Amino acid sequence: MTTKPVPSLQRHAVPPGTASLADHERLARQCLDDNAWAYFSGGAADEITLAANHSAWDRITLQPRVLRALAGGHTRTTLLGRTLAHPILLAPIAFQRMAHPDGELASAYAAAALGAGLVLSTQSSTPVEAVAQAMQGDPASGPLWFQLYLQHDRGFTRELVQRAEAAGCDALVLTVDAPTSGARDRERRAGFRLPAGISAVHLAGLAPPPARLLSPGQSPLFDGLLHHAPTWADVQWLQSVTRLPVLLKGVLHPDDARQAAALGVAGLIVSNHGGRTLDTAPATAHALPRVAQAVQGALPLLVDGGIRRGTDVLKALALGASAVLLGRPAVYGLAHAGAAGVAHVLRLLRDELEIAMALTGCATLERVTPALLDLPALQTFTPRCARGDY
Ligand code: FNR
Ligand code: LAC
Repeated sequence: MTTKPVPSLQRHAVPPGTASLADHERLARQCLDDNAWAYFSGGAADEITLAANHSAWDRITLQPRVLRALAGGHTRTTLLGRTLAHPILLAPIAFQRMAHPDGELASAYAAAALGAGLVLSTQSSTPVEAVAQAMQGDPASGPLWFQLYLQHDRGFTRELVQRAEAAGCDALVLTVDAPTSGARDRERRAGFRLPAGISAVHLAGLAPPPARLLSPGQSPLFDGLLHHAPTWADVQWLQSVTRLPVLLKGVLHPDDARQAAALGVAGLIVSNHGGRTLDTAPATAHALPRVAQAVQGALPLLVDGGIRRGTDVLKALALGASAVLLGRPAVYGLAHAGAAGVAHVLRLLRDELEIAMALTGCATLERVTPALLDLPALQTFTPRCARGDY
């Protein structure tokens, strides 16, 4: 597998015999130090949700259908009015230059070459303008979305939104599941700190929030940081200050999904932040069908968390998702092989999706429905799987 030569980036070869996303993870472990490893691979607290994200996909059984016509099949779909070559996007992951000097730029070139969408983190270590330029140079490129963490200074946040718009981003993704970080035991044990020279470049120049003098008994969290946490009113504010579609990332509860749909958000990403925020939150494979049932096709759903195989992508689509986001595996590919590593990860997952479609009798994604899943409780619901309608 090869990617387009990209002169400005380091050239790497993916070792022969690298056959799965798990292989990429092993290769990454060999070249990331303990500090970076704790950050990229860790989850919150006992990492129960982190583990559950994986096991939940594994436990769903597929019910293959045979002898259906498969020739001419494809993985194409449409999302927010745009045709995608396949339903796999790169999830927002902060500080990618800590994994590899080419950082987010490498991810952008790889995503563009493989027709994958990319969601760029507010806490990116590479500016949105450079990432947009890397993606816009490729006609086959997927969409570029900007992930937004609302900052305490709403004026600054608004300028950041305008910056993402001016750079050519296609949508904003407001992350709503992290008003504070989770209890990251692994990071604390490793004494995690950002290496010199790596920072959240979009937040340069943001003044710290005005200090609040806490009286004894007050909580630094509730009486400090959380004064700035986003609320439903901020979702409306964001919609009012941007012309871009706004998606919410980190919705798990059907009632929150209904409320978001009522506000006219453009889409939802069913996510538990890769198990990094609330530990023991449900696995996304469990939350997704409930959310799908609640919104009944009113808006596109995406999902992330623990997706490591083409069969996981297929299951996510069967449960009502229009597309999936891939988190850590892309960073693992990046860590040991730069852009070529990210591209290889995307290629593997897409190839595996095609194989899974063929072996379940699905020539196109329209054929991917809950009937493929051996889940008696779920057979009764039919999300108005409007893939292709968005
Ligand atoms: C994240 N995630 C994340 N999400 C977000 O909205 N903004 C961000 O800046 C980050 N940063 C980030 C860093 C690291 C190291 C990880 C692992 C994750 C969450 C991410 O977008 C996604 O929801 C999960 O990573 C998906 O789970 P998997 O694929 O990693 O299991
Ligand atoms: C994280 C933040 C940046 O998960 O979202 O590390």
